[in-house]
Amino acid sequence: MAYASLYKWSLEDPNGFWMKAAEEIDWVSPPSKALFEDKAPFYEWFADGMVNTCWNAVDRHVEAGRGKQIAIVHESPITHSSKGITYAELQARVASLAGALRAKGIEKGDRVIIYMPMIPEALEAMLACARLGAIHSVVFGGFAAHELAVRIDDCKPKAIIAASCGLEPSRVVHYKPLLDQAIEEATHKPDFCVIFQREQEVAKLVEGRDVAWHTFQYGVEPAECVPVEGNHPAYILYTSGTTGQPKGVVRATGGHLVALKWTMKAIYDINAGDVFWAASDVGWVVGHSYICYGPLIAGATTIVYEGKPVGTPDAGAFWRVMQNNKVKTFFTAPTALRAIKREDPQGKLIEDYNLRSLKALFLAGERADPDTVVWAQRNLNVPVVDNWWQTETGWAIAANPIGIQQLPVKIGSPTVPMPGYDVRVLDEGGHQLGAGELGAIAIKLPLPPGTLPTLWNAEERFKKSYLSHFPGYYETGDAGYIDEDGYVYIMARTDDVINVAGHRLSTGAMEEILASHTDVAECAVIGVSDALKGQSPLGFLCLNKGSGREPADVVKECVQLVRDKIGPVADFKRACVVDRLPKTRSGKILRGTMVKIADGQDFKMPATIDDPAILDEIRESLLEMGYPKA
Ligand code: COA
Ligand code: AMP
Repeated sequence: MAYASLYKWSLEDPNGFWMKAAEEIDWVSPPSKALFEDKAPFYEWFADGMVNTCWNAVDRHVEAGRGKQIAIVHESPITHSSKGITYAELQARVASLAGALRAKGIEKGDRVIIYMPMIPEALEAMLACARLGAIHSVVFGGFAAHELAVRIDDCKPKAIIAASCGLEPSRVVHYKPLLDQAIEEATHKPDFCVIFQREQEVAKLVEGRDVAWHTFQYGVEPAECVPVEGNHPAYILYTSGTTGQPKGVVRATGGHLVALKWTMKAIYDINAGDVFWAASDVGWVVGHSYICYGPLIAGATTIVYEGKPVGTPDAGAFWRVMQNNKVKTFFTAPTALRAIKREDPQGKLIEDYNLRSLKALFLAGERADPDTVVWAQRNLNVPVVDNWWQTETGWAIAANPIGIQQLPVKIGSPTVPMPGYDVRVLDEGGHQLGAGELGAIAIKLPLPPGTLPTLWNAEERFKKSYLSHFPGYYETGDAGYIDEDGYVYIMARTDDVINVAGHRLSTGAMEEILASHTDVAECAVIGVSDALKGQSPLGFLCLNKGSGREPADVVKECVQLVRDKIGPVADFKRACVVDRLPKTRSGKILRGTMVKIADGQDFKMPATIDDPAILDEIRESLLEMGYPKA
C-alpha cells in the first residue's frame, strides 16, 4: 500500500492498522485490541497482550534457523578490534546473564541501571533485563557522577550494571570511580553492582556490593523469557527538560515491539539478514531503538561502533566499517558528517572503499542542514533521508518511508508524518495554522504505539510538560511548519533545550549548576550557532557584589563545575562575566534576544525590555569572545 493510504488508514482506524502491524510480533497471548483509551489522556497500546521483548529480539530468530547469523558486530577502532556474535551465542550469553541477575533477586518490574560504553555487553545487559521483565535505564557514559546519582534516586534500581571503563580517543573514562561517587551521593542504594572488567582498566570491586560480570554467572541456571503485559514498562530513558531534574521517559513493551518492527521495514527497508548500522550510543534513544532493539527484532545484524567519525584513526572510519560489514542502511547525526566533511571536503576517502551494499543514509538527532545533505548525496550517491523524532516518541514522527514508497526529497524537510502521528502546527492560542505558517508543532492525541505513555513516577509532570499547553494534543517542544504538500519542517525548539552535536541538553540544568557557585549571583546559558555541533552552550555570569574575584578565575571554576556535575557531554567551555542580564520588566531573562545578538541576526527590540542599554553591554562581551562568528 502506498504511503498516503497507509497514513490515512492509521488515523481513521488505529485499531485495524496497528493490529495488522502487531501480527509481525510473536505474542505469548495476543492482545484483544490495539488502543486502550480508558485512562485517557494516558493512552495504552496492546495492554492485554502477553509478550517478551528478548524473545522477539533473540530467541525467536534462533528458533527460525538464524542461530548462525551474526546478530551483533563490535567495531572498535579505539581498541583496534572487530568481532561478531551470532544469534545463538547472543541467546546463550543473555540467558546466562539474566539467570545470574535472577539468582541475585532481580524480578519483573525491578529497575536496573546500565552505565556502559559501546560494547556488545551493553546490549546484552539490556536484553537480559528484557528477558526477565526488569526495567532498564541506560545512562550515557559522558554523564558525570551527579547525573547518574539523580537517575539512581529517581528510578531506585535494585542493581547497576557497569563497565570498568570507557575509551575516548584521548583518554580512558574511569566509569568505576564515577559509579562509586554516584552511589555515595544518591540517597537510594542498589542491592548490588555488576562490573564488566575491560582489559584496558580493571576496577577495584567493593566487597559485599560489587560482583564481576563473568564470576557471578558461574554455575547459574540460564533464564527463560518471562512474559509481560503489553503495557509493562520495557525501559526508562532520561532526557533533558527545562530543569536540572531529567524526565524519565517510559517505554511500554507491546507498542515498542510493534512500532519498531514496522519501522525497520517501512522506513529503513531492513529485512532479516540485512546489515543495519546506527552510529549513535546506547545511552540515547537512537541507540535503544536502532542499535539494540529495532535491528534485532527484525532479525538483522546490528553494529556497535566504539569510535568517532574522525580521528579513530581518520575521516574514512565510517566508510571502512560500511565496506567491511556490507552495511545496507546507515544512520547517523548530521554533526558526524560535518566533522568528516571538515576533514575531507571532497569526500576523497570515500573513493578508497567499496560501498556498493549501501542503499540509504538516514540522518536524525538535529536539523539536517542542506549543505551536509547535499554533500552526502553527492559523495555517497544514495538517498539521504532526514527523520525527525524525540526520546519521547522512540521512533520517527516524520520520515521518508523508503521501504514502502520513496517520496521525493525536499532538502530541509524530514518529509512527511509517519502513521499514527497526526501532526499539526498551532499558534499560541492553540489554533491550527495554514500551510507554510510557522508555529508550535503538536500531535493530536493519541500518540501511536511505541511513544511514551507517561513519565516515570511523574504523571503530573507528564501532563504539565506535554499535554496542558494545547489540550487534546502532545506538545513536541519543536517549532516549524507544514508546506502545501504536507512536508514537515522543523526550525527550532520552543523551550530551553539545546542540541549540541546531536546531544539534547538543558540550558536550565546548566544554569542551576552555575548558580550554585558561591560567587555567582545570577546567570544565563544560551545555545549559540556552531558550524560543527549545530549549537554550543555559552554562559553569562553576574558575580556577587564585592566578591573581589578575578572574572577569569570564576569562569574557569564554572566551566569545571558543569563538567564535574553534568559531564563532558555538556560541552560547556565558554562563559563571560557581565554586570547585568537583559530582562523584561517582569524579570524574565531575554535569552532569545541574546542568542540573536550572538548569532549576528537581526532582532526586534522586545517591547517589554526593562533597560535596552544592557543589550549593548552584552553585545560588547560577546564581541570580546569572538561572537558573532564570521
Ligand atoms: N563517554 C565519556 N565521555 C564522552 C562520551 C562518552 N560516551 N562521548 C563524548 N564524551 C566527551 C568527549 O570526550 C568530549 O570530552 P572533552 O571535552 O574532554 O573533549 C565531550 O564529551 C564532548 O564530546 P563530543 O560531543 O563527542 O565532541 P567532540 O568534539 O569530541 O566530537 C563530533 C565532535 C562531532 C565528532 C562528535 O560529537 C560526534 O561524533 N557526534 C555525533 C553524535 C551522535 O552520533 N549523536 C547521535 C545522537 S542521535
Ligand atoms: P532527542 O530527544 O535527544 O532525540 O532530541 C529530540 C530533539 O532533537 C527534537 O525535539 C528536535 O528538536 C531535535 N531533532 C531530532 N531530529 C531532528 C531532525 N531530523 N530535524 C530537526 N530537529 C531534530
